Amino acid sequence: MTFTRYFLVGGAGFIGSHFIDALLGQDTIEKVTVYDNFSSGQEWHYQHHQSDPRLVIFRADVKDSFTLNEAMAGHEVVIHFAANPDISRAVLEPSIDFTEGLFLTHQVLEAARLTKVKRLLYTSGSGVYGEVDEDSVENQGGMYPISTYGASKLGSEAFISSYCHLFGLSACLFRFANVVGPRQTHGVGYDFIRKLTKNPHSLEILGDGLQSKSYIHVSDVVSAVLLANEKLTSKIEVYNVATNDSISVNEIAKLTVECMNLNEPADFKYSGGDRGWKGDVPRVRLNTDKIRTLGWSCQQNSIEAMRSALLAMLREI
Ligand SMILES: NC(=O)c1ccc[n+]([C@@H]2O[C@H](COP(=O)([O-])OP(=O)(O)OC[C@H]3O[C@@H](n4cnc5c(N)ncnc54)[C@H](O)[C@@H]3O)[C@@H](O)[C@H]2O)c1
Repeated sequence: MTFTRYFLVGGAGFIGSHFIDALLGQDTIEKVTVYDNFSSGQEWHYQHHQSDPRLVIFRADVKDSFTLNEAMAGHEVVIHFAANPDISRAVLEPSIDFTEGLFLTHQVLEAARLTKVKRLLYTSGSGVYGEVDEDSVENQGGMYPISTYGASKLGSEAFISSYCHLFGLSACLFRFANVVGPRQTHGVGYDFIRKLTKNPHSLEILGDGLQSKSYIHVSDVVSAVLLANEKLTSKIEVYNVATNDSISVNEIAKLTVECMNLNEPADFKYSGGDRGWKGDVPRVRLNTDKIRTLGWSCQQNSIEAMRSALLAMLREI
């Protein structure tokens, strides 16, 4: 089915803004609405489209049901990005991933039910799996997140599934690896650039630097999501979206030093322990066979994605 009217909840953020670009790049698209409270979203992320009459911006909070329902009316597809982006924040604010996570998803689902939206695309994450030894596959049972962020994603997936079965919505859930690219406003590469800009001689690395994960370029995430949306024939599907490889935090630190052309290599100082913060999963491996059977493949591996993201972030500073 071809949809033409998209509603992006949290669309002014890093990942959402790349969907604005991709959707407005298609002539068949009639309308792209961004609904965002700009807590981490930025106007400059979409300013280059400001003269496109198909782009509509709502500056409002997802917790404001009245405005959300009014704004969502008339759209066919909702892409839901809005969430607390900082996994480590829960240690100081234990409710954050409920109020700015699971609760937001419920708000979006209720608005979708009331306004008769046909399709929901949800940006979940590898955090749903918790800490597991083997490559995580989508139909894995007994999932035990170790962060409230992961719990909020898993709970959101469960609510979306129930709404699909009760109220005729269809949905794709995407469990992303770490996403990197232009307009990134958080993440390890962003953090390293900020620290090295302040002090190019020394770099504090959280954990022991051996944490290793897949880093996927945002353009590969956009192509995976839009392809799965186009191919969906069932009520609901879930996909891991990742590269087939991984890189360590130490490798990212070295790459950042290289991309910043620092004269002397920075001295790496480790905070210690096997992870960056409580709730961080130090080793993440996602099996991506399912999304690849749709014909998707990623154009950049982890090191290529990280290098181009670092260079883009350096240009943006
Ligand atoms: N970046 C990653 O590596 C990654 C990995 C896996 C999953 N995800 C998920 O993808 C989604 C998008 O991530 P991102 O990196 O673009 O984050 P982001 O913080 O850049 O984008 C989130 C957007 O939601 C908006 N928002 C937050 N709370 C809101 C509220 N209450 N009302 C209205 N708007 C609100 C923010 O202003 C922001 O524009 C998130 O749900 C995130 O958990 C991201």
